[in-house]
Amino acid sequence: MAKIIEHHEGSQRDSHRDSPGVSSEGLNFNKDLVSPDLAAGEISWENQLRPLRFADFPGQDTVKEKLQVFVKAARRRQEPLDHLLLSGPPGLGKTTLARIIAGEMGAGFKATSAPALDKKGDLAAILTSLKPFSVLFIDEIHRLSRQVEEYLYTAMEDYYLDLVTGEGLGARSMKFQLAPFTLIGATTRAGLLNAPFRDRFGIVERLQFYDRESLGLILHRSAQILKIPAADEGLLEIARRSRGTPRVANRLLKRVRDYAEVQGQGQITEQIATSSLDQLGVDRLGLDDMDRRILSLIAQRYRGGPVGIETLSAALSEEKNTLEEVYEPFLIQEGLLVKTQRGRVLTDLARRHLGALIDSHQLDFF
Ligand SMILES: Nc1ncnc2c1ncn2[C@@H]1O[C@H](COP(=O)(O)OP(=O)(O)OP(=O)(O)O)[C@@H](O)[C@H]1O
Ligand SMILES: [Mg+2]
Repeated sequence: MAKIIEHHEGSQRDSHRDSPGVSSEGLNFNKDLVSPDLAAGEISWENQLRPLRFADFPGQDTVKEKLQVFVKAARRRQEPLDHLLLSGPPGLGKTTLARIIAGEMGAGFKATSAPALDKKGDLAAILTSLKPFSVLFIDEIHRLSRQVEEYLYTAMEDYYLDLVTGEGLGARSMKFQLAPFTLIGATTRAGLLNAPFRDRFGIVERLQFYDRESLGLILHRSAQILKIPAADEGLLEIARRSRGTPRVANRLLKRVRDYAEVQGQGQITEQIATSSLDQLGVDRLGLDDMDRRILSLIAQRYRGGPVGIETLSAALSEEKNTLEEVYEPFLIQEGLLVKTQRGRVLTDLARRHLGALIDSHQLDFF
């Protein structure tokens, strides 16, 4: 079971990967290895591998191209970039993109996260300290309290805050003019944002899982930075098992390097990548514990479906929203699950994959 993992901006990640009441019985699998969440010890090397320019950020082509145009246009007009809401599963590059945008705008960058903005005063202190055109990054923005969220509205629209001074009868409200700034909000749960808040973001983009080629390019760059000798085929094998997530890819790269040093000549070859990832229990599709529970539940109890999301949510003791926003997109993208009007249905590919896991003793029950 995943632990709640300390987040690098000083907050705690939602425990959405946590699934109380569900044991991983029967699964011979190292879950933390493919968890898309950031583990506490990974902060410094993650920063080391974080690209600072669009040119070093492979993948997400549609989003990236749009953002590049918007950044160029804003720079030309000497205006701040429109407020931007970035959503998508963990580890796909939301924080990275926010930093890149600030860098490409030549603007300041300040990062915080919703749980750190407990009171209006916390937000006011940050907003009033921003230099013109700065990027204010708020992580996990779906967790802002209603009160703080509404306080942001005038800041986002007209760059001012209503500040209240004094107390009781002597209390006075005054408008405080802010420097023009860009708010970049990141969330894994865009569905939880109120419509009026969401509408105040001029640009709303959702990041997608990466294809194998883009992950291969990311790994190539990471291997160079970490000075790990690696063959392209070896990197592509790691990419295949990284569940479309750069954070997972970089983590697996480091683990495979250990095997290459101990069991090989230090170079990550295809053979070393395959055998070490097999030994680590990362399956060929990079599925995690919950992914496999979802698939095997549908196969076992519902004969492959269709089965409704509420039923799945109850059987797995997992929130419906989490299933829909965190797990399903990857399973659907991988062609393992399809959504029909009558519910979720397993594909032949999923059945074959589960069968192969049973054959290789990675899954004991069906
Ligand atoms: N397109 C990319 N190219 C290169 N590296 C990337 C890319 N996207 C993400 N990464 C790397 O993956 C790691 C995770 O990225 P990041 O922290 O931006 O994810 P996130 O979406 O903010 O995750 P979370 O939801 O957990 O906050 C970072 O080390 C980053 O360098
Ligand atoms: Mg982040």
